[in-house]
Amino acid sequence: MEKEGKRRLRVVLVAAPFQGHITPMLQLGSILHSNGFSITVAHAQYNSPDPSSHPEFSFLPLPDTSTPVFLTGEIIASAVQLNANCKARFRECLAEAMRQQGSDDEIACIIHDEFMYFSEAAAKDLMIPSIILRTNSAAHFLARTALIQLKTEGHIPFPESRSQDLVPELYPLRFKDLPNLQLVSKVSNIRSSSAIIYNTIDCLENSSLAKIEQQWQVPTFPIGPMHRISSASSSSLLEEDISCMAWLDKQSYDSVIYVSLGSLAFMDVKELVEMGWGLANSQQPFLWVVRPGSIRGAEWIEILPKNLKENISGRGYIVKWAPQKEVLAHSAVGGFLSHCGWNSTLESICEGIPMICKPCFGDQGVNTRYVSHVWKVGLELEGRNLERGEIERAVRRLMVGEEGKELRKRSKNLKKKVELCTKEGGSSSNSLNKLIKIIMSF
Ligand code: UDX
Repeated sequence: MEKEGKRRLRVVLVAAPFQGHITPMLQLGSILHSNGFSITVAHAQYNSPDPSSHPEFSFLPLPDTSTPVFLTGEIIASAVQLNANCKARFRECLAEAMRQQGSDDEIACIIHDEFMYFSEAAAKDLMIPSIILRTNSAAHFLARTALIQLKTEGHIPFPESRSQDLVPELYPLRFKDLPNLQLVSKVSNIRSSSAIIYNTIDCLENSSLAKIEQQWQVPTFPIGPMHRISSASSSSLLEEDISCMAWLDKQSYDSVIYVSLGSLAFMDVKELVEMGWGLANSQQPFLWVVRPGSIRGAEWIEILPKNLKENISGRGYIVKWAPQKEVLAHSAVGGFLSHCGWNSTLESICEGIPMICKPCFGDQGVNTRYVSHVWKVGLELEGRNLERGEIERAVRRLMVGEEGKELRKRSKNLKKKVELCTKEGGSSSNSLNKLIKIIMSF
């Protein structure tokens, strides 16, 4: 940002090496860059962003040797290891950057993913303000922070018989929707932060956002959905198979169910086969993302039985990774069977696409509950395991039934509300203006 007509302030972003975290961080970088700030992106070596897709940013690779842990899906363990590996180097790099900076390129603040909590100590040491970017919903934050109290009161761990009970003080969440307690101590402390940025929208989460401001007294900036505000080019870590767009072009309006469980979830071969038969038996056209490496015990879909492959041929299209935002925006897509990661949830809401929710872990239970019970733009798959009959019924309910029509109508209405928030004078646009002011004032 050009202060006094000359200086361009620099913001250092510290991204966590997961697809669902890198994407919103780079989107934020692009939003701030288009508002006049210089951007440096500090990142781990594994799952690193591609600098050539973002020539307007500088990149700062950090040492990290946690690759094998990431590949086994041990997210918490890998986050802890990553923080330990990067702490000293990040502080050194930052100190060096400050020594070299001219008065026209001063570091205004650090904005770090809440999983990259090592950044806080460095920022504090060097007296640079730090801001947290939360890539999940505000409701998830409230649920997560309530876990310690719930444990103290003896509510968790909870027996299976209580899984459908409402959690005290966290309406409408049930015990089964709660995230994992393990994560609580492995994230940044928001009290030592100058502000928190949320990739969320006031019209979706105003009561959760108000509670957070009231309880923590830290300025909160809900500036989402960032993929709608930012002009960032693709930050996809996997190659997108764009052939599915030509296949979608041949399908009729609102007829296709898009299926993806995001960038981190795993399933076993039995679940893959159940999912395949459920989709096949629904008799609806589908576009299914099966991420390579996401099936325990198989490379990819070679394991699907021959009769299943024959059954779905022509009606189902399977890819390793899709251009998801474009897919959801395609007129042929009428539903999304999703794990309800927060990015996928926002992307679906922004396109007015109703969901079938199959949460896998973390924040996804909370998102599912809000999608199905609060915003009422989706159905929840109730079974703990993927089961063909349940998938078939859910797909038919969403794609052919009256219930589906109602959900589609509500989704289109919610889309319109969200659009208003990002327009000039809307809540996200106002929040962004305030955020820019606060960064300039540091
Ligand atoms: C998980 C969490 O559930 C999420 O809430 C958290 O913020 C990050 O970690 P993930 O499994 O990555 O997330 O899901 P999600 O947040 O939905 O992000 C996935 C991203 O990958 C989306 O932006 C989606 O558009 C993209 N994607 C997914 C593709 O581009 N192509 C695909 O085929 C599938």
